[in-house]
Amino acid sequence: MRVLLTGASGFIGRNIATALAAAGHQVSPVSRSHGIDFGHMTTAASWLPHLQGCDAVINCVGIIGQTASQRFDALHTQAPIALFQACVQAKLRRVIQISALGADETAFSAYHLSKRAADDGLRGLDLDWFVLRPSLIYGRGGQSAKLFMRLAALPLIPVMGHGQQALQPVHIGDVVATVMQSLTSTQPQRTLDIVGLETIPFAHWLQRMRQAQGLEAARLLHLPFGLVMAVAHLGCHIHPLLQPENFRMLRTGYWADVQPLAQFLGRMPQAHEAHLFFTDDIPQGSPA
Ligand SMILES: NC(=O)c1ccc[n+]([C@@H]2O[C@H](COP(=O)([O-])OP(=O)(O)OC[C@H]3O[C@@H](n4cnc5c(N)ncnc54)[C@H](OP(=O)(O)O)[C@@H]3O)[C@@H](O)[C@H]2O)c1
Repeated sequence: MRVLLTGASGFIGRNIATALAAAGHQVSPVSRSHGIDFGHMTTAASWLPHLQGCDAVINCVGIIGQTASQRFDALHTQAPIALFQACVQAKLRRVIQISALGADETAFSAYHLSKRAADDGLRGLDLDWFVLRPSLIYGRGGQSAKLFMRLAALPLIPVMGHGQQALQPVHIGDVVATVMQSLTSTQPQRTLDIVGLETIPFAHWLQRMRQAQGLEAARLLHLPFGLVMAVAHLGCHIHPLLQPENFRMLRTGYWADVQPLAQFLGRMPQAHEAHLFFTDDIPQGSPA
């Protein structure tokens, strides 16, 4: 198959590209690093030349915070919907959309709402679509995973409030395995949450990351939510990850039933073992 892979230079996209190549597929990569800016790709007509000769599309473009030039509505909603509509016109049926856990009827953040708008747009089209909603992803090379590893290694671990916000982190290898299975599955038109085996409080997750780095458990530094938000309002001008909304999402916590994913993969996602923080390998026995 020839696969148009958007976000091919990113954490998820790079790992999918490696798996596609290993399975004998050809990749047509899209990202600004490959000369294509989603900000300029908001019509179906702009996508059609890029779809020539392709058999499937995987969309992994995304941002965690907005800047003056990187906007949720263009990158998460308008460009993806234009791409999906171009797929209909080009009669390219298989489309896999990487969304995010929480981009559902409970969504309140601009991040989730903009993702959900594209997911809804795709679900309304007569295509063999998959909407995949990963939880927090860990493994070698992820930006947020790197940041959390650094936080976890501090002498005092900063957490928001009690630090009990529930997360269900999933390894990058399980995300890639789910995408590969979606590429050939005979049961399309599915929305699937990609979650880890275990739901874990944020503070425990950081302690686990600390342990994986060979460090003893550390004391927690409990920061009141109001203080975190005040810092975020200033910090978001320095780094998009520090958007106040990202802390509101963290405070909400995200988890889901793991069984639909386990049934789809024919196995459970991997348990959190120390070595997995430093690898991006796909588990043995996953679909090629
Ligand atoms: N990582 C996680 O824990 C996680 C969890 C759930 C959902 N997700 C979602 O999965 C997607 C990918 O995540 P990731 O971790 O792989 O992020 P990432 O490493 O930051 O990669 C983002 C990708 O989007 C591309 N991109 C950004 N702006 C673009 C633009 N204007 N035009 C074209 N391409 C652009 C980037 O390439 P260039 O910079 O070269 O343009 C890069 O290839 C995102 O939608 C994210 O919301 C991630």
